[in-house]
Amino acid sequence: MTQSIDVGLWREAMGGFLSGITVVTTRGEAGVAGTAVNAFSAVSQDPPLLLVCLDRKSRSLDAIRKSGILAVNILSNAHMDVVRRFAAKSEDDRFRDVDFFDGVTGAPVLAESVAWFDCEVHALHDGGDHEIVVGRVLDLGSNKNAAPLAYHRGNIWCLDAGAATPEQRS
Ligand SMILES: Cc1cc2nc3c(=O)[nH]c(=O)nc-3n(C[C@H](O)[C@H](O)[C@H](O)COP(=O)(O)O)c2cc1C
Repeated sequence: MTQSIDVGLWREAMGGFLSGITVVTTRGEAGVAGTAVNAFSAVSQDPPLLLVCLDRKSRSLDAIRKSGILAVNILSNAHMDVVRRFAAKSEDDRFRDVDFFDGVTGAPVLAESVAWFDCEVHALHDGGDHEIVVGRVLDLGSNKNAAPLAYHRGNIWCLDAGAATPEQRS
């Protein structure tokens, strides 16, 4: 039996968790695809596994299922302007003006990421209205000097040299 909870309280409570922001990408027959994701975690070092949780309605999830590949890009302050675009339903050209190169799997790796992980799909698990995608990392990169973006209560912050700068919200 599914126990009902207060959805507003659920969102408020989960919104209190400070996370980084990633863009999860893939490449399939329809070309490149990608979406903003903060449900990301390391899983295993040996073998190297990570996970992301994607809404079952996500077009990117559908593309990842078909292609069997994904890249997880940890966003930096260079990506402040593109986060909302990678989350907007109405945006068809999310990669506009975004520098990227092809990883070994063919998935797009965003330039200036704090770190990136190029993966093949290792497993897909039931996650309720989301699906848990476990990726096996085939290649990775790190730019330890890049300042990461953070997400908290719907706000995007740049963690730069110890100071947090919020985005300008319209
Ligand atoms: C900061 C941020 C984090 C997000 N995290 C997730 C997430 O972890 N999983 C998810 O399914 N959607 C997440 N979203 C929402 C998706 O980016 C959004 O629904 C997007 O339109 C899905 O695109 P798609 O259908 O092309 O895959 C997040 C959005 C933002 C702005």
